[in-house]
Amino acid sequence: MKILLLGKNGQVGWELQRSLAPMGEVLALDRHSTDFCGDLSQTKRLAQTVRDWRPDVIVNAAAHTAVDKAESEPDLARCLNATAPAALAQAAAEIGAWLVHYSTDYVFNGLGVQAWQEDDATGPLSVYGQTKLEGEQAIATSGCKYLIFRTSWVYAARGGNFTKTMLRLAAERERLTVINDQHGAPTGADLIADVTTHAIRQVMANTAPDLTGIYHLVAAGETSWHGYASHVIAQARTLQPAQVLKVSEIAPVPTSAFPTPARRPLNSRLSTRKLQQAFGLVLPPWQQGVDRMLREIL
Ligand SMILES: NC(=O)c1ccc[n+]([C@@H]2O[C@H](COP(=O)([O-])OP(=O)(O)OC[C@H]3O[C@@H](n4cnc5c(N)ncnc54)[C@H](OP(=O)(O)O)[C@@H]3O)[C@@H](O)[C@H]2O)c1
Repeated sequence: MKILLLGKNGQVGWELQRSLAPMGEVLALDRHSTDFCGDLSQTKRLAQTVRDWRPDVIVNAAAHTAVDKAESEPDLARCLNATAPAALAQAAAEIGAWLVHYSTDYVFNGLGVQAWQEDDATGPLSVYGQTKLEGEQAIATSGCKYLIFRTSWVYAARGGNFTKTMLRLAAERERLTVINDQHGAPTGADLIADVTTHAIRQVMANTAPDLTGIYHLVAAGETSWHGYASHVIAQARTLQPAQVLKVSEIAPVPTSAFPTPARRPLNSRLSTRKLQQAFGLVLPPWQQGVDRMLREIL
């Protein structure tokens, strides 16, 4: 099996390099790759990469993920999040390849308290959410075989992340303020990569019914950023009792306490029933992945 991986150095892309490796021949590209173009802003050359290398599966882990910055550079966000996926989907359709792509809870408006289903009405609040939705729509109408995984609150041990920021602040300050009115599930890039690989194996085995479609892929359970931070700090104290964390109060605050250029949905809960049923998977509770990451970084 030939797999073309785009965005190899992002949180998810990095983990995909690991999980896809045993599946076959993987061509992993980033925007600086020279032999083949992996730059999402070069849509014609990107599509040419697909036509020249002729993968069985394209996995696109690259995107414009800077949510606030996207508000001031909508053209670039649209190019990377919508135009490039559209070009990939078109090229995939031409050669009969599968396209695996990632989207986001930010396609929803965040109202209510129910977990969003895949076919619920969308209503993005930000340029990022809007352009990611346009990417989904372009893929879905392209005629290619596709899997789109909507995920949320992605973290990885590698690089900066919310956990590391909370641990640093907890060591420096006695009081932290953390948003408690946004609800979702922190989801490890390793889990996303492993589920992706499992799903690819199933669709390529070709015994299952047509699995093309959009799926929600997040860890089980839910929390707020405040719940997430509280868990991280309590676990850090358990795992490393000798390390002094100054913080004595983690105060819950509303989203309005931290104004940002992009609006975020308050309700980012995603139902994963469709994914679990279609692919025979059980998604672990969010705390499991966060605790594992903490053991790696502490
Ligand atoms: N992070 C989250 O919380 C989150 C939540 C929901 C959904 N998602 C979705 O999940 C997917 C993976 O996200 P992630 O967390 O792994 O993001 P990430 O760590 O920000 O990685 C995105 C990657 O895209 C690459 N990229 C940016 N511009 C590019 C270009 N012009 N050409 C090629 N590559 C380019 C970046 O490369 P450089 O390193 O060179 O900039 C980076 O490696 C994305 O589709 C994202 O929308 C993420």
